Amino acid sequence: MSIANRHPRTTRIAGALLALACLAVAACRSMEQVVPPVGPAMLSSAQGASAEALTRGRGIYLDACIRCHVAEAIGDYGLERWRAKILPDMSRRAKLSPQQTAELTSYVLAARETLDRVAGPTGR
Ligand code: HEC
Repeated sequence: MSIANRHPRTTRIAGALLALACLAVAACRSMEQVVPPVGPAMLSSAQGASAEALTRGRGIYLDACIRCHVAEAIGDYGLERWRAKILPDMSRRAKLSPQQTAELTSYVLAARETLDRVAGPTGR
């Protein structure tokens, strides 16, 4: 006789917990996927910005860009939309200094271009 037959209740609870855990993982993407960490692949899209500047840009994102709404996934919007609309608009709303705006912009565009290269263009 298997363990499952001897402990049907425990098995049911374990199964329910496992299902819940899977749902939670599917529903919320990790912060690494939403706002990718700076790495070597990203540096080749950085247009000369240093790893330090990109890392500061990511820090600005995680600080200033989650005050009014949850962290927007960089992959959810296309490169041109970030460049032409979202970054100028939201940097103003977040009251960033010109240097913060420049570092945030370098980071987001490098991250977005890296996603394009790795996964192909996505987003609106
Ligand atoms: C003062 C509040 C505020 C701050 C700070 C803010 N946002 Fe927003 N954001 C909004 C609102 C409100 C919207 C809803 C759309 C709109 O009103 O344009 C929005 C929408 C967005 C969208 C969706 C845009 C679209 O075209 O659908 C993105 C992406 C975004 N914000 C990114 C950012 C980033 C990156 C930062 C940091 C620089 C930031 N936000 C900081 C208020 C804010």
